[in-house]
Amino acid sequence: MVVSVSSGADPLAARRLPEIDYATHPAYGGMFKPARARAAALEQALGGLVAEVEAEDRAKDATFGYRYGTGTDISREVAAQGWCVRQLPAARLKLLRSAAAPEVEAIRGRLAELRASGAMIGFKATQEIIGPASHPDLWLQARKALWECGLIGAAVDYFGSNHASLKSAAVMVNQPGQAWCEDVFRDGAMETPATVGFHIDSSSLCVLKVVLYLDDVGPEQGPFGVIPTSHLWEQGSPGRVRRRAFDRSAFVSRSPGQRRTFTALPPELRLKAEFGSDLLPESPEALQLLAEEHVGTGPGGQLNIFDPEAVHRGGQTRAGERQVMLLSIGAKFGAPPAEEHTA
Ligand SMILES: [Fe+2]
Repeated sequence: MVVSVSSGADPLAARRLPEIDYATHPAYGGMFKPARARAAALEQALGGLVAEVEAEDRAKDATFGYRYGTGTDISREVAAQGWCVRQLPAARLKLLRSAAAPEVEAIRGRLAELRASGAMIGFKATQEIIGPASHPDLWLQARKALWECGLIGAAVDYFGSNHASLKSAAVMVNQPGQAWCEDVFRDGAMETPATVGFHIDSSSLCVLKVVLYLDDVGPEQGPFGVIPTSHLWEQGSPGRVRRRAFDRSAFVSRSPGQRRTFTALPPELRLKAEFGSDLLPESPEALQLLAEEHVGTGPGGQLNIFDPEAVHRGGQTRAGERQVMLLSIGAKFGAPPAEEHTA
């Protein structure tokens, strides 16, 4: 069965992603005079990136077209809510944990070194990218986990594709003190808000994503968070295209210079895919997102499955540690290679 939830007078399609008034924002227009010369360069770069995203969206529309398959329990839940939760069998979790252990230790070592030297903990330091050539055992275990839990079939059904496969994988270890979670405005322009990290992905690909907990994740360990139904808001809109384009640009950091440049953009271009860190703490949009957020605490082996078009975040660890695998399942619309038919 296939349903299109983007047509008609669906109130969810009419809901909008938060739009921030950057002209008066204390860390943007409230503290900077617009840097018009640099904004011209950004605007030019955005033009090219918007064209790139639009081309990808046209390809997506020609194949998937937001016609969500609902023929499996997983695709049905994700189509309706933007996410769902399943549990990996204990035996598979044990194998995955064992295969991921060297990566977990490598990341821990790196984080300890950074901390000892007083250096900032950046996003990349918390991850090890996994590939079939570099990590054959862990890659195979991840593939088997996806098949075992019905996620490959769910992705094929969800996107109406010919096949689907594990597209990318990473091991991630989150600990307190991550700069992008706790110190967003390093010049002290504004406190990091509670909505830090809320975003839609800047990719336009037909993928389902999975945050697989290798260990128990409580409220302080940076659980996966998602805003139910937000994958349906202003679907395929110019606003979503512009958000993606900006987050692909070289201007994406929140350094004072980049914020000053961003402030000088025309208002309709002041949109970000990662907008949560800019939301003002007491704004109605921030309070509503926090009230609506599904906070996915859970045991080791929990699979948090989601459509990356939904507003989501994770890894904002305040105490202890979070160990996860990040998996991406790509839908493919060509003829399937023979080896993709089985685990
Ligand atoms: Fe994401």
